[in-house]
Amino acid sequence: MNASNKQIHKIAVIAGDGIGPEVISEGVKILKAASDCSDVFGFEFTFFPWGCEYYLKTGRMMDEDGMEKLKGFDAVFLGAVGAPGVPDHISLWDLLLTIRKGFDQYVNLRPVKLLKGAPCPLANVRREDIDMLFIRENSEGEYAGSGSWLYKGKPNEVVIQDGVFSRFGCERIIRYAFETARAQGRSLTSISKGNALNYSMVFWDQIFAEVAKEYPDVRTQSLLVDAASMFMVKDPKRFEVVVTSNLFGDILTDLGAAISGGMGLAAGANINPERKYPSMFEPIHGSAPDIAGKQIADPLATVWSASQMLEFFGHRKEADALIDIIEEILCEKRYLTPDLGGNAKTSEVGDEAVRKYVSRFGK
Ligand code: NAD
Ligand code: IPM
Ligand code: MN
Repeated sequence: MNASNKQIHKIAVIAGDGIGPEVISEGVKILKAASDCSDVFGFEFTFFPWGCEYYLKTGRMMDEDGMEKLKGFDAVFLGAVGAPGVPDHISLWDLLLTIRKGFDQYVNLRPVKLLKGAPCPLANVRREDIDMLFIRENSEGEYAGSGSWLYKGKPNEVVIQDGVFSRFGCERIIRYAFETARAQGRSLTSISKGNALNYSMVFWDQIFAEVAKEYPDVRTQSLLVDAASMFMVKDPKRFEVVVTSNLFGDILTDLGAAISGGMGLAAGANINPERKYPSMFEPIHGSAPDIAGKQIADPLATVWSASQMLEFFGHRKEADALIDIIEEILCEKRYLTPDLGGNAKTSEVGDEAVRKYVSRFGK
């Protein structure tokens, strides 16, 4: 196949705020290298200046027809959103959550895997003991945005935030998790909180039990979220594939990041499995205002989400190579950012990843 027949993936890049632009340029760098090295596929990038600065200038986090614009892309690559001058519930709801919900990216895949060479704060843990895949419900639950604020500012003010758990929403994420566990030949853990959340989580547990009957070959366990957090630290090998609600998945994957090398190494993919809409790939960390603008943010989480994107497009060999490259960088320790004990700049880590990629796939 010659270069003109390459399959081109059109990527919308939203670098966002804080360290977002710093890490995303390394992610784009590696995808460009992948593009240059392949006769089979390539990437074409379109950059959108959306985020908090854009909001301060225009009063909007994205263009009014932003979702319409994004719809034509094959995927979105996002850095991070949030800056001190804009309330978080506005910046996140009007950009990140708008995309996740509007494009029905109801599956959030977050690997919690201790890569070779990554630091782990837990004692008596072998590397292979931390190898989980979190499947977080990403469209409803505690993030449904349903509620009310009554008598605002008055002494009798009342706030209600509803958790919305639909049968459709619970079933589809739980079924996706069972399919994944079956395909990987691994166990599935459901994490919920039915003892206290007497509607939503009782319902979740019931649906998990119902769907489990269709997958007698998949080993399962159900844990309460409090105990699950404890076991993630004390006995992480209990967890293989994990399915949980939106909020629990958010919290537990930051804990997951902490035990597998830190926020600088935690990646996520927001997937619309039906591929009716673009999926979105992003590091799970935020805009980290405390370190922004210094070129010390770790770009490896973003490189890992680039690997998830390659896998999503079916480029398995290249996706796996990126994980190997991250492991080599971690083991060699020559190009690490300060969060991992090094003194390399963000862009130096990205450059090293590109060198290693080109040495594998370059023409
Ligand atoms: P954060 O993830 O931005 O930072 C938490 C800590 O981890 C900070 O000390 C930070 O320096 C460190 N950290 C994060 N990413 C790092 C990296 N790549 N390399 C090295 N260190 C890294 O979380 P926060 O401080 O709670 O939130 C900051 C802002 O980001 C808020 O506005 C929040 O709403 C937003 N946020 C956005 C996203 C997103 O866009 N996906 C995710 C989480 C938080
Ligand atoms: C994440 C983030 C988001 C979430 C916030 C910024 C809305 O913390 O992607 O983990 O809670 O999903
Ligand atoms: Mn989070």
